[in-house]
Amino acid sequence: MKPISRRTALTLGGLGVAGTVIGGAGLLWTGQGDSGQGGPGRPAGPAAGDALREPAELRSRAGLLELRLDAAAGRTQIGGRTATTLGYNGGLPGPTLRLRAGDRLRVSLRNGLTDPTNLHVHGLHVSPEGNADNPFVMIDPGASFDYDYLLPQDHPPGLYWYHPHHHGLVADQVFGGLYGAIVVEDPDPVDVARERLLIISDLTLDGSGRVASAGRAERMAGREGELVLVNGQLNPTLGIRPGERERWRIVNACVSRYLRLRLDGQAVQLLGLDSGRFETPQDVAEVLLAPGNRADLLVTAAEGTAVLRALPYDRGSMGGMMGGTARSTAEVSLATVTVSGEAAAAASVVPRRPAARDLRAEPVTARRELILSMGMGGGMGGGMNFTINGESFDAGRVDTTVQGGSVEEWLLTNTSPMDHPFHLHVWPMQLLETNGRAADSPPWQDVVNLPARGSARVRIAFDDFTGRTVYHCHILDHEDLGMMGVVEARGPLLGG
Ligand code: C2O
Ligand code: CU
Ligand code: CU
Repeated sequence: MKPISRRTALTLGGLGVAGTVIGGAGLLWTGQGDSGQGGPGRPAGPAAGDALREPAELRSRAGLLELRLDAAAGRTQIGGRTATTLGYNGGLPGPTLRLRAGDRLRVSLRNGLTDPTNLHVHGLHVSPEGNADNPFVMIDPGASFDYDYLLPQDHPPGLYWYHPHHHGLVADQVFGGLYGAIVVEDPDPVDVARERLLIISDLTLDGSGRVASAGRAERMAGREGELVLVNGQLNPTLGIRPGERERWRIVNACVSRYLRLRLDGQAVQLLGLDSGRFETPQDVAEVLLAPGNRADLLVTAAEGTAVLRALPYDRGSMGGMMGGTARSTAEVSLATVTVSGEAAAAASVVPRRPAARDLRAEPVTARRELILSMGMGGGMGGGMNFTINGESFDAGRVDTTVQGGSVEEWLLTNTSPMDHPFHLHVWPMQLLETNGRAADSPPWQDVVNLPARGSARVRIAFDDFTGRTVYHCHILDHEDLGMMGVVEARGPLLGG
């Protein structure tokens, strides 16, 4: 197959009509070294300390975004080294999809990998059935599948993301480079000098520049990569003028790494976490993102140089169980922010969002407990068992049946000595308490952290859709090892 440069692929994409974008076929990416030419917006070839680059953006037009995604291996530059990774449409991260509530999204996914894959739109409130956000779809190598998603008219704005979800290979494929962002536009724009997207991922390259595979102990602990990347770059730089306000949308696309983010010396406010946006921004010193979580931040720049850092986070260990070690232990510099130049005028007040729905005021139809455990097991080659309510994932079994349109309360209990970030597809969760402590204004999240030997209590409104989907630990190695269950919402939908 003829190699096609990333730049050419983007140009082809730009020629699409009515929001249609066709990626190049059988991409073999070429990095910086191949053409030697940079250029405005050229996303390939990140090297340490370069200016932050962002993935190509594809926007819906007249209510439709149609595109082709090619999942394939290719070469790219990471920290000045040539690396062989996976990617969508010739790069990591894949293109950013910008949508509005009520839009239709059509994705033709071509599997150019050597293993099966599929696509999940993490956090989107869309149907789990048929060719929508169906995690049971399997696309063989060389095959294609046409996804078709319809966002409800009242879909919450916010930052979402897409990644593969073929059970058993999710961690390998995400770690390898398969992820991209989805933005559902805010109906009331926030006044900012610019918006930036930061997808944080990690990976380990072996001596020949290939993505290192994870051994059994690493999978059980949850693999963490040696390199922590922002949009595929090592420690990129960002320039801002003093007084300018920027909106940063951050995805934790790491397989297992928790990100305890700080940007000391700068004024940081949290606009929202996962989906939606808070009524008013909250001043924060630190934001913790478990794998899968997203943050929507406002940064108001103050003169000087600041470093976006991920501080150590203790997510527990397998301790005596397998002799594993605690991870996310070293501090990481993710990006360097230089604030200089002429001062900018202050940005205007952030428009207030209506208060989010509060399920504390609503009747609960059913209560249940889900227990996440790790135990020594005979199964899976004599390693640990990763279970929910004592069972490993089985795509042919329905673990939890709920009534469409009902409100349920779930107590999520973690009996193991490690944190597990619990994720439910399609329906977001309102987090009422963690370890028995009530949250004062319970946030809506689609990934809720369950501390080691701890618990969380959530309420879920199973609105709008029926069908089968999954909940799982978002340490994707744990999901692949079986810490996942099937939930089915049965009709008829109870009235809204
Ligand atoms: Cu981001 Cu089922 O996952
Ligand atoms: Cu998801
Ligand atoms: Cu886990």
